[in-house]
Amino acid sequence: MTRSRVRWILAVAVCCRLATVPHPAEATSGGGIDPRVEELLQKMTLEEKVGQLNQYSAAFDLTGPPPPEEAARARYDDIRNGRVGSLLNVTGAAATRAAQELAVNNSRLGIPLIFGYDVIHGFETMFPLPLAEAASWDLAAIESSARHAATEAAAAGLHWTFAPMVDIARDARWGRIAEGAGEDPYLGSRVAAARVRGFQGTDLAATDTLAACAKHYAAYGFAEAGRDYNTVDISEQTLRNVALPPFHAAVEAGVATLMNSFNEIGGVPATGSVHLQREILKGEWGFEGLMVSDWGSIGEMVPHGYAADARDAARLAIVAGSDMDMESSAYIAHLADLVESGEVDMALVDDAVRRVLQLKARLGLFDDPYRYSDLEREAATLRNEAMRAAARDMARRSIVLLQNRDGLLPLDAGVGPIAVIGPLAADKDAPLGTWRGRAEAGTAVSLLEGIRAAVGDGVEVRHAEGAPLAIGRRSFVFELEINHDDGSGFEAAVEAARGAAVVVLALGEDAFQTGEGRSQVDVTLKGVQVELFRALREINENVVVVLMNGRPLAIPGIAEAAPAIVEAWHLGSQAGHAIADVLFGNHNPSGKLPVSMPVHVGQEPLYYNHKNTGRPAPGVPEIVFWSHYTDAPNAALFPFGHGLSYTTFDYSRLSLSHGEMARDGEVTAAVTVTNSGDLAGAEVVQLYIRDLVGSFTRPVLELKGFERIELAPGESREVRFPIAAEDLAFYTAAGRWEAEPGRFEILVGTSSANLQKAELLLASAESATQ
Ligand code: NOJ
Repeated sequence: MTRSRVRWILAVAVCCRLATVPHPAEATSGGGIDPRVEELLQKMTLEEKVGQLNQYSAAFDLTGPPPPEEAARARYDDIRNGRVGSLLNVTGAAATRAAQELAVNNSRLGIPLIFGYDVIHGFETMFPLPLAEAASWDLAAIESSARHAATEAAAAGLHWTFAPMVDIARDARWGRIAEGAGEDPYLGSRVAAARVRGFQGTDLAATDTLAACAKHYAAYGFAEAGRDYNTVDISEQTLRNVALPPFHAAVEAGVATLMNSFNEIGGVPATGSVHLQREILKGEWGFEGLMVSDWGSIGEMVPHGYAADARDAARLAIVAGSDMDMESSAYIAHLADLVESGEVDMALVDDAVRRVLQLKARLGLFDDPYRYSDLEREAATLRNEAMRAAARDMARRSIVLLQNRDGLLPLDAGVGPIAVIGPLAADKDAPLGTWRGRAEAGTAVSLLEGIRAAVGDGVEVRHAEGAPLAIGRRSFVFELEINHDDGSGFEAAVEAARGAAVVVLALGEDAFQTGEGRSQVDVTLKGVQVELFRALREINENVVVVLMNGRPLAIPGIAEAAPAIVEAWHLGSQAGHAIADVLFGNHNPSGKLPVSMPVHVGQEPLYYNHKNTGRPAPGVPEIVFWSHYTDAPNAALFPFGHGLSYTTFDYSRLSLSHGEMARDGEVTAAVTVTNSGDLAGAEVVQLYIRDLVGSFTRPVLELKGFERIELAPGESREVRFPIAAEDLAFYTAAGRWEAEPGRFEILVGTSSANLQKAELLLASAESATQ
């Protein structure tokens, strides 16, 4: 079929749609395949089919003349010849249009490209890191943040984000902990679904939505020793009970795509895992969307020692259910040959191509391949005022007040001088965080700017850096060098702090200390930061430490001595304003930690929902034979779910509607929460369970519900958590997701370490029918 004939068919399809046919997104939302997909499949050659499964990164500028490099030229030719189904890293209305023209105007069938990009926490306007947003426990706000990111990115010609990252991460050493929702599968699942809804909206063809991509499937966060890309070896029960639930939640929320992961799991690279992709995802869960490989992960099955060469890797990947090859070129080089030689069944290729084309149909690209590449919409949408306001609001909600002795916070905006000190105090780049999309370097509102704007000209604000954190080149690609010895700015910092009413000390991590490829064995404050704190604390008692970071930090020396500690993460473009909002009480903090903050890195992996072990607590305190460290506690410094407010919340006694529950029954746990302080505030009321005996051992606590409530001073609210058998269910030794009869503890409170408890008996099926 000629290209013009395809366009004619598409044009007819558009006309028909206008007259009678439901919108493709509606037509396919029930799982049906768009008729145009099947029609195209019939017409495609094997080579064209394989082309649809090939994704390249555009490391070249498509708006200008082709670069001289042979490889880049070859990629242009591949696009023109229908040998590319998708590009990543082409952004902007003009560039995406130019790239789309290459495909649509030159390839035989004129099939449009999909443009994918890492829109992780914003596109040009940065919102807080995903881990930070999870600390809000505010699902509506998280959904709205993803919605804003999608609006900006889609206005820049993009169709597809490689987000949300839904990997459960229990190890602070792993740099990518910043990209997910933390350590808990329940919170992670709720956040995953909210992000999918936010990115995708209700119509993928709308020009303010993106196809989402739940990644990295699976268990990437369980890399041994927290070292990125490292081996994963976890049991099926940990996989099913901890790692997979957020992926399942994303699938249930209708996520359009998934990305598989770099790691091996149980001796099989995830990219080549039939069990993960064909059996669980596409089998048990009935996922009909697209599975894209991670960058080069098909080719990486060779160094993994699982595939003999790229051809073998291509065979293993397509058989396992990896539909699209990101940047390995293994499919484009070998898949046609593998089919022709009979080593790969054509039906597998057809299935993968159908998934790619179906996504294109759902995105509306067969109606108009250029629908997202609109210069006017781009100019009106990017970094507009509403976007900035939304980023500031999300940033405030993400802040966690860790410590506040003697009510040092909130600060009185009229009282100075205020000394704003530290390597991150005036930093306009670090708050943008890792994976900062197309945000311009150095465009965040710094803490210093935020404080100056909050107090106005009437209050003296002093500034001193104290010491730089990173030295030399800072970039997404290269190693970062930390300043370990330059304390030459200490003196000026001490001078600034002397006699100040308060010292606001900004410590933490550079943006390029967390994220991909940025694992650390040491998660304390790097460089000379603790020394700087000590020097300042010696001459001024009122030190408020503001932490800006992407991973849970260990803060020995600071936790004991700082009266106030604010966890401010990397909060994005509006960071400084948001932190100032909290410091001066214009926003009452309500964030809660989605990860445990360790006392010492040696506790890692550290997570609240651990198992009890056979030796949980000492019978005789001084005897060593129990599961513990002799030189550090087992518990976190600040536990999962912890976060303070400027007001106080009192909890009534926890009540359970029944002490026993039939398997098809329901009980309600209820507690009344009262704002007993003087300020309006929000509290995240948390529900946990403990299954006391299981066919697999069960964690000492499992989050099963939460509600964020806003209360005026003196106001009370009853919070009710309905509990059904499915809330008590897990992947059992019988290989089923079910609740096992027996005794449970039901716990409600303000953090995983501050809970009241009641007992519940889940009746067996037999006794329930009696
Ligand atoms: C590799 C990362 O692991 C993945 O998260 C990202 O989406 C791709 N690169 C594309 O940039």
